[in-house]
Amino acid sequence: MTSRYHETYATWRRDPEGFWLAAAEDITWTRKPTRAFDPAAGVYGHWFPDGECNTCFNALDRHVEAGRGDAIAVIHDSAITGRQRHISYRDLLREVQALAASLADLGVGKGDRVLIYMPMVPEAIVSMLACARVGAIHSVVFGGFAAPELATRIDDATPKVILSASCGLEPTRKVEYKPLLDRAIDLAAHKVSATIILQRLELECSMVSGRDHDWAALRAAGLAAIDAGRDVPCVPVKATDPLYVLYTSGTTGKPKGVVRDNGGYMIALSWSMRAIFDTDEGETFFCASDVGWVVGHSYIVYGPLLRGATTILYEGKPVGTPDAGAFWRVAAEHGAKALITAPTAIRGMRKEDPEGQLPARYDLSKFEALFLAGERADPETLIWAEEALGCPVIDHWWQTESGWPIAANPKGLGLLPVKRGSPGVAMPGFDIRILDAFGQAVEANEMGAIALKLPLPPGALPSLWNADDRFRESYLEAYPGYYSTSDAGFVDEEGYVYVMGRTDDVINVAGHRLSTGEMEEAVAGHPAVAECAVIGMRDELKGELPCGFVVLKNASRQDRSEIERELVALVRDRIGPVAAFKRVIVVDRLPKTRSGKILRRTMKAIVDRDEFDMPATIEDPAAIDDVKRAVEG
Ligand code: COA
Ligand code: AMP
Repeated sequence: MTSRYHETYATWRRDPEGFWLAAAEDITWTRKPTRAFDPAAGVYGHWFPDGECNTCFNALDRHVEAGRGDAIAVIHDSAITGRQRHISYRDLLREVQALAASLADLGVGKGDRVLIYMPMVPEAIVSMLACARVGAIHSVVFGGFAAPELATRIDDATPKVILSASCGLEPTRKVEYKPLLDRAIDLAAHKVSATIILQRLELECSMVSGRDHDWAALRAAGLAAIDAGRDVPCVPVKATDPLYVLYTSGTTGKPKGVVRDNGGYMIALSWSMRAIFDTDEGETFFCASDVGWVVGHSYIVYGPLLRGATTILYEGKPVGTPDAGAFWRVAAEHGAKALITAPTAIRGMRKEDPEGQLPARYDLSKFEALFLAGERADPETLIWAEEALGCPVIDHWWQTESGWPIAANPKGLGLLPVKRGSPGVAMPGFDIRILDAFGQAVEANEMGAIALKLPLPPGALPSLWNADDRFRESYLEAYPGYYSTSDAGFVDEEGYVYVMGRTDDVINVAGHRLSTGEMEEAVAGHPAVAECAVIGMRDELKGELPCGFVVLKNASRQDRSEIERELVALVRDRIGPVAAFKRVIVVDRLPKTRSGKILRRTMKAIVDRDEFDMPATIEDPAAIDDVKRAVEG
C-alpha cells in the first residue's frame, strides 16, 4: 500500500485549523467547537477554545450507548499473580460511576486535583476515568518513586483526595505503598483530608481512621446507590480545562507538572490510534508501559478506550515473569494487534533469548507490529526484533510534554520505508526544525537542537501546572517562536528525524526519564559529601545508569565503602528504586573549567571508556587522571 503520509502532512500544512477541526468530528462534544485555535489565549494559544466535552463520556458512555457495552474494554493480565480479569465497557462504566460517586461525596468536583499512586491494576484506570467523569484533574505518580518524591507532587498539585493501594508487586518483593504514602502525607505541607485505599489480596495495610477509606466498602455503597437510581453524570468541562497533571523530571529537584487538556488530547489520541498505531474499535492493543508514565496515560488508558478498542493492562516484566517470552504470551493469548514497549525491554529479552526463538512458540497471527519508544532504538535491537517477530518494528519519538508521537512511521496511513536508527518523520501538527546555537536552521544531516515551531498541536502541553513562567523559561525562551525539546539530532534529506540524546541533565534509565540534578541534590545532602556530580553512564541493558562522583569532606572519618552504601540508600530513599542509583566513585576532586563548571561530559567519556580531547578550559588537567584512576580502581 502506498503511504498516505505525505498527502496527510501536506493537508495539515495547508490548513492546520481545518485539519484539526475535521479530526474533532471523532469525538462527542457537549458543545461543538466553532474554532480550532485561539492564538491569544494561554501562553502560546489554546486548542478548541469554545468546545465543551467530557473525556470519560468519550472513553466509556459513548460506546455503551452505541450498543457496545459487552465489548471488552480492559484485560488485566498479571504475570506476577497469574490472575486475569476481562472487564466489559458496561462493567467498567459501572465501576467508574461508583468511584465517581464516592469522589463526589468526598467533595471532589470540577477542577479539584486527585493524586493516584497505584500499581498496574484495573482500579488505576477506574481512578483516572472517575476523575475525568467529575471534571477533576488527576495526577498519577509512578509506584517506583519514594515518599519524598510523592510529597513534592502532593505539595505542587495540592490534591483533595489520594487514591492508592496496599501494595505493588515486583517479581521479587511486595512494594508496600501504604507506609510510603503515609510518610509522604506527613512530609507534605499540603494536608490531604481523605484517601481511598484498595486492599489487595496479597497484602492488607493499616488504615488511618477518619482519613483513609476502604475502596471495597465505598465501591459496594456506590454500586448499590447506582442500582437504586443514583445518577452520576459526566460533568462537561471546557476543552481547554486540564484532564491531568503528570510530573516529569527536569534539571532541578522540582519536577515539572505537565498539564494536559481534555479536548485537544482526545482528538490527538483518537487521530494517532488510527493513523499511527492502526488500531480501532474491536481490536486489541497492548501497551507494556506503566500508568505512571505518559505512554501509559495515552496508550494504555485513553487512546484505546477513546477508540472503543480493548486495552491490555499488564502487571509483570518483559523478562523473569516467568521468562523472556512473557510479552509474546500476552500478545498471543489476548490477540493483540500491536505492542508498544521500550527498547530496553527488548534488549532484556534479547539477552535471555539471543536467537529470538521464544516468539515462535506463540500464535502471533493477529500481531502486526511492534512499536518502540522512550529512548533511542539501537539498530541491533531493531534487527533482533524484526527477525524474531517477522513483522515491522517501528520506532517513534515523543515526550511527556508532547503527549503523543512527534515523529513516527504511521502504520495506519501506510508505512514508509523503515530507516533503522530513525524514529521516522514528523507527524501532522509537529513542525520539526534543527537549529544551531544562534537559532538558525541547519542543513539536512547536520546535528543541532531539535525544536518545534509554535504552536504545538492539540494534545501537547499548553503549560506547566501553576507555572507559566517556568514553562516559558524551560521551553520557549531558548529559541523564540519555537518549543525546545531538549533533544539533539538531525533530519535527513527525506525528512527522517534522528534523535541522538538530551542536551540537558536528564538521563534515560530503562526508558525512565530521570534528573541527574535531582540525584545530585540528594547525594549532596549526605554529611560526608563536600561536592558531587551525577552522570549517566552507558549500560547495555538499561541504556544509561546513573553514576555518582563524590568528593568527601576532609573531616570525614567514615569508611568509604560505608559512605558509598549510605549514598545508594539515600538516593533510593529520596527518589526511589526506579533511579537505579547503584554506583558511587569517590574522587579527590572533580574536574572543572577555570570558571568552575564541572566537566560532566568528560567524566562521562571516562566511565564510558570513550575517546575524548582534554577540554581547553580545564583548570587542572591532573583532576582528569584522578577520575581515570578512581574509575579503573
Ligand atoms: N513500583 C515499585 N518499584 C518499582 C516499580 C514500581 N512500579 N517499577 C520498578 N520498580 C523498582 C524495581 O523493583 C527495581 O528495584 P530493585 O532495585 O529493588 O531491583 C527498580 O525499581 C528498577 O526497576 P526497573 O527499571 O523496572 O528495572 P528492572 O531491573 O526491574 O527491569 C527492565 C528492567 C528493562 C525489564 C524494565 O526496566 C522495563 O521493563 N523497562 C521498560 C520501561 C518502560 O516501559 N518505560 C515506559 C516507556 S515506553
Ligand atoms: P519521557 O518524557 O519520559 O517520555 O522522555 C522523553 C525523552 O525520551 C525524549 O526527550 C528523548 O530524549 C527520549 N526518547 C523518547 N523516545 C525516543 C526515541 N524514539 N528515540 C530517541 N529518544 C527518545
